[in-house]
Amino acid sequence: MARYAQIVGWGKALPTRVMHNAEFERLVETSDQWIRERTGIVERRLAGPGETTGTLAAQAAREALAVATLDPQRVDFVIVATCTPDKLMPATAPMVQQAIGATNAAAVDVNAACAGFTYALVMANSMIAAGMYRHVLVIGADTLARWLDWQDRRVSILFGDGAGAVLLAASDQPTGLLAYQLGSDGSKADLLHIPAGGSAAPSTAETVAAKGHYIQMEGRAVFKFAVKAIVDSTRAVLGAAGMEIADVDLFVPHQANARIIDAAAESVGLPKGRVFTNVERYGNTSAGSIPIALCEAIEAGRLRPGDNVLMCGFGAGLTWGTAIFQWGVPLSTPATEPWRSLASSMNGRADRARAIARRAVAGVGA
Ligand code: ACO
Repeated sequence: MARYAQIVGWGKALPTRVMHNAEFERLVETSDQWIRERTGIVERRLAGPGETTGTLAAQAAREALAVATLDPQRVDFVIVATCTPDKLMPATAPMVQQAIGATNAAAVDVNAACAGFTYALVMANSMIAAGMYRHVLVIGADTLARWLDWQDRRVSILFGDGAGAVLLAASDQPTGLLAYQLGSDGSKADLLHIPAGGSAAPSTAETVAAKGHYIQMEGRAVFKFAVKAIVDSTRAVLGAAGMEIADVDLFVPHQANARIIDAAAESVGLPKGRVFTNVERYGNTSAGSIPIALCEAIEAGRLRPGDNVLMCGFGAGLTWGTAIFQWGVPLSTPATEPWRSLASSMNGRADRARAIARRAVAGVGA
């Protein structure tokens, strides 16, 4: 029997510390107006003491499990898409798996930078379609603000921290992933990278002094790549699905820069009303950005069962990943005892998440 994978739970986690553009005016030669006009960003969130990629990922995952009413022990696989793991070794996913009580799950990280979530989504879908697993948690989480040179105004203004998660579940209903394209161009790896701290340049006093542990980026070249990647891969994916741009109900792109999103959407013929953006509030949260935006789109009642949602990520590598996904109806499973103990540890967030899910299924805005 054909196996499909449907998103049955979703969640997000954002640090409470808000950094407004105005704060940069005290650090570097810039202005709130410049940042708004060139990027669309107004503020971003910064992870605080005790917050890491892993803790944010676990918080988003708990919320996704609460929406799905799924006991953590029934999760088969945890994938954390991140380029800012808690440690170089081990991966962050096993820590998340332990933190959420997914005691029967395998766990691994995927690093495709800002395209990481779309890569992980396609991988999870394949594992379910192949009949290997029934429940796969796909988490996009990054804390790139910890890899910023706050004196570098070309880069520091762009990024924020955050995580988003979806739970994919096996389904016999022919919905879910309709078509996708994943790609990479390693010849452009140096356009966006953190030069030191890996095996190519292990950490030394010299690498620290040379600021080798901070993000370095050729902004203009990345901008051009991003627009082209979105436009070309969107056309390819729609072609593979036998669809037209008019069939896309909602575009949820990686939230890097409002100008990138506007230019790409205009080029493929998507009106603003069918594009979801929240870059103004969070900046670029890397692998977290698409699942956070997806979550907020659902909470805002922007996705109804049967809608086609186009997701497109692009980033360091350079990598890109585009997927067209048909939204389905979340499963309705009874809440069991292990789920109740998970929910009670969330101080009411589980109940709020389930209420949002019910409204989403009914097609009513939050
Ligand atoms: N404030 C004021 N002036 C600035 C700032 C700033 N924060 N940053 C740069 N400038 C100056 C530059 O020095 C330059 O001055 P000059 O003309 O005297 O040399 C001028 O503004 C224009 O610089 P550009 O780089 O041409 O500005 P641009 O319009 O391209 O905007 C930006 C820069 C916002 C970085 C843009 O190129 C961009 O968004 N690129 C894509 C970056 C991106 O999305 N990266 C993430 C990819 S996803 C991932 O995997 C992490």
